[in-house]
Amino acid sequence: MERALIIIKPDAVQRGLIGPILTRLEQRGLKFVGLKLIQVDEALARRHYAEHEGKAFFESLVSYITSAPVVVAVVAGKPGTVEMIRTLVGATNPAKAAPGTIRGDFGIDIGRNLIHASDSPESGERETAIFFKPEELIADWSRAVDPWVQE
Ligand code: RTP
Ligand code: MG
Repeated sequence: MERALIIIKPDAVQRGLIGPILTRLEQRGLKFVGLKLIQVDEALARRHYAEHEGKAFFESLVSYITSAPVVVAVVAGKPGTVEMIRTLVGATNPAKAAPGTIRGDFGIDIGRNLIHASDSPESGERETAIFFKPEELIADWSRAVDPWVQE
């Protein structure tokens, strides 16, 4: 089982795109095991984006992700789920993201790219632990539709 952390970023929340973005993930057949609206503070932002510390865009990235509430979610699925979600999300720069992807359909600017998705199963585990307490996750629920989504 793989888990990916999703963040619907402040620009998407402000633009009323929580629903459309969640719908993209839901319609694909992906399964949520965690979901909440939070305000990211500076310490949490720096921890989540630690790999980018020192880069030219780091301070503006911290400022962006803390600028308004975000929706954080955890999606769980079979091996390959994390990569599939990254494909669905599209290239980091929405200007270069393919049409049909979330960033390619909703954005135009790298500094307002709407959504975060974990870039590997290892990142998925690290980031899930940063944003969710174990008791906030519902790991083992099954959906009646599951056999119609996956053989
Ligand atoms: P994310 O972590 O948010 O899912 O995005 P990503 O993997 O596609 O891109 P990453 O390289 O991890 O960058 C993290 C976020 O930093 C902002 N960024 N700005 N101005 C720039 O050159 C630049 N580069 C990256 C974006 O918000 C990006 O999503
Ligand atoms: Mg990243």
